[in-house]
Amino acid sequence: MNHLFEKNNNSNGQNHVDILCPAEAVIKDIITENSTIKTFVVEILDEELAGTFTYLPGQFVMVSVPHKGEAPISISSHLTTPGLMHLSIRKAGRLTSALHQMKEGDHVGIRGPYGRPFPMQELQGRDILLVAGGIGLAPLRSVIEFCLHSPEQFGSITLLYGSRAPSDIAFRADLDRWAAEGVDVRLTVDVAEPGWKGHVGLVTKLLEDVQIGGNSHSALLCGPPIMIDVVTKMLQDKGLSPDQIITTLERNMKCGVGLCGHCYMNGVYICKHGPVFTVSQLNDMRIF
Ligand SMILES: Cc1cc2nc3c(=O)[nH]c(=O)nc-3n(C[C@H](O)[C@H](O)[C@H](O)COP(=O)(O)OP(=O)(O)OC[C@H]3O[C@@H](n4cnc5c(N)ncnc54)[C@H](O)[C@@H]3O)c2cc1C
Ligand code: FES
Repeated sequence: MNHLFEKNNNSNGQNHVDILCPAEAVIKDIITENSTIKTFVVEILDEELAGTFTYLPGQFVMVSVPHKGEAPISISSHLTTPGLMHLSIRKAGRLTSALHQMKEGDHVGIRGPYGRPFPMQELQGRDILLVAGGIGLAPLRSVIEFCLHSPEQFGSITLLYGSRAPSDIAFRADLDRWAAEGVDVRLTVDVAEPGWKGHVGLVTKLLEDVQIGGNSHSALLCGPPIMIDVVTKMLQDKGLSPDQIITTLERNMKCGVGLCGHCYMNGVYICKHGPVFTVSQLNDMRIF
């Protein structure tokens, strides 16, 4: 076994591979979502570790490739089998380019799951509005799959998803399936291409037409900071309180567990206390 992937005993008895020591995992399948995003179906190899590796939407893992680096990646699936997860990864730099070169059967390192998840229990019975831009749909994909697994526990689900151009729309198979299963899926692109008959404009344009029903809605946002900023303001103008708006923060991370200080901001470790926060919490932290 590669020493980088040695199994350690976990001191707190939780469902984690040990702190800072990745577990060896195998790529079981790869779905090409668009020219820059691939979804990797990854499984922890050690059966004992795999059996205790469970997660909730909004949590992330640290993914590593020897000699290429390590990075935080949101889990984009709903837990069906412990130790098995989907990771939807946009090619950005050294590590993610190396991952995009990999094939089924190749091995990666996984640490986690880390971070505070979306409050799925508190969201029960509520109408859920999801607003995503680009790869921001990855953690919200996990939320949608979670809700569709037990739809009777949630109200309506509306997804507003913005992409740069029609050819950049990722998760196409999921979008079709979600629409067939009752999710109100609304797409927009910044720039049209020949043959595109859908909406053109920013995701905020789509939001203008969404009816927000009093106190019944919660909004979950993930995308570029400018999108989060504008959408948050619009939602508050539409009557949502800062407690009803939940987002994820992306900051440079190294350890992922509150040790190194890379993600420290205004008294908070984004990796440990987040990455999921309500806007009300961000206001308290003076981040918004
Ligand atoms: C909690 C969390 C969850 C994430 N989930 C996902 C996910 O599900 N899918 C996904 O594709 N990416 C996700 N990211 C971003 C991902 O971690 C970075 O894109 C990754 O670190 C790039 O590594 P690299 O070695 O390939 O690129 P590098 O060579 O390190 O960087 C390439 C470029 O990406 C930029 N970059 C590096 N880190 C970040 C970051 N955290 N946010 C934005 N830009 C960054 C750099 O400034 C540089 O311009 C997440 C980040 C966080 C903090
Ligand atoms: S990434 Fe090290 S403290 Fe958050």
